[in-house]
Amino acid sequence: MKLAVVGLQWGDEGKGKVVDYLAKDFDIDARFQGGTNAGHTVRHEDREVIFHQVPCGVLNKGVIGVVGAGCVFDPAIFFSELSNLKKINPKIEECIKISKYCHLIMPYHILIDKIREESKQGIGTTKKGIGPAYEDKYARVGLRVGDLFNQEFFKERLRANISRKNLMLMEIYHAEPLSDSEIFDKYMDYAKKLKPIVINDAAYLNDALTKGKNIIFEGAQGTLLDIDFGTYPYVTSSHTVSGSVGVGLGLPPFYVEQVLGVAKAYTTRVGFGPFPTESTEEFGKSLREIGKEYGATTGRPRRCGPFDAAIVKYAAQLNGVKEIVLTKFDVLSSFDKLKIAVGYTNAPAFDPFIADRLEPSYEEIPGFKKDISKIRDYDALPDEAKEYLKLIEHYTGLKIKYISVGPERNAVIRL
Ligand code: GDP
Ligand code: IMO
Ligand code: MG
Repeated sequence: MKLAVVGLQWGDEGKGKVVDYLAKDFDIDARFQGGTNAGHTVRHEDREVIFHQVPCGVLNKGVIGVVGAGCVFDPAIFFSELSNLKKINPKIEECIKISKYCHLIMPYHILIDKIREESKQGIGTTKKGIGPAYEDKYARVGLRVGDLFNQEFFKERLRANISRKNLMLMEIYHAEPLSDSEIFDKYMDYAKKLKPIVINDAAYLNDALTKGKNIIFEGAQGTLLDIDFGTYPYVTSSHTVSGSVGVGLGLPPFYVEQVLGVAKAYTTRVGFGPFPTESTEEFGKSLREIGKEYGATTGRPRRCGPFDAAIVKYAAQLNGVKEIVLTKFDVLSSFDKLKIAVGYTNAPAFDPFIADRLEPSYEEIPGFKKDISKIRDYDALPDEAKEYLKLIEHYTGLKIKYISVGPERNAVIRL
């Protein structure tokens, strides 16, 4: 089986929980885009583990995690994540492989991201250097994981990059210049440690598929953050849609057999940008507190609001999604009334070009007012909860295949 898992909203839909739940049936979990901007939370026994760089399926026995060519890679965050993961599995390193094609996130990328965020150019990024790293990739001046093993080339390109960045840092941002020798030594140290786990992901994965291995493709961010199809310019710097799996891993597109969409039972967004169903009132505040809606990467409070069927429908089409996992349904259990946006009064469908002007129309139903976090069987759900699920299926045109009712791996109702 070759299954892609993608977010259908603005990220943080619970992809980590879903991938961790499904990964036991796969041999490989491959990330195909994004970088340390991701924060994928997994509840492993009593621990909460947040994955930024490492594919989160690796806590399942026998699963190999691959960080693919389409990702950007920060060795500093990777090694700190690794040392944390070693507390769970001392041999975790044997389960992780990094593509030699990945572009490196360098200290100057992080610095530039931070400085821009503090200026008028800010869009509310995670300040992990993601945008500047992808910019260098497409400007063809980036440094890749594979370049770490060609010292002379690395040194020269680093020096050239730093002299250009220093000009920009000093002239435009009035910041202190960076020293290349310190960064060089640090990255050469990473090179030694990374050597045993760096691979040609395209060859590795194509070979695995020929041998009949099963792969789960772990998406990061969400469709509304896609560089082309998201709410530009308030987006991330990579393609988050399922079409990105092939190019992000060096695989032909026909290998993606199925795409499972992940959507929260309500909507959240972190960072700036349009959000048609945002609730700045009591409902939104309660969702944030009950749902613990604080960023897994930055700790920022997430903006919250009702489920928006139109954005999920839009996202599903872009990804080829027919079936979804609805997460955090348990969070809705204390509300007297629940509403979902079924469309807009001033537009026939979601359109990111007018996202800041869309006026949602809502359908409201009574809340289910019952703790559903221990329920594992659809029939045991209260009627009002079933009604909510039916509304979502009706207005999105999608089939709900799983319902997540808690952060734990097995807190899932299968339909
Ligand atoms: P991701 O980026 O899509 O992997 O999502 P995050 O990990 O950033 O955010 C999802 C948050 O919700 C995490 O804290 C999860 O532990 C938590 N979570 C996931 N599914 C459920 C669920 O069904 N119910 C509850 N209450 N929490 C959940
Ligand atoms: P996961 O994988 C939620 C948002 C940032 C900002 C915009 C650009 O955990 O779902 P960036 O740092 O990528 O340049 O920021 O994208 N963003 C996310 N929001 N979840 C994420 O990842 C995100 N990754 C980036 O908040 O609005
Ligand atoms: Mg997240």
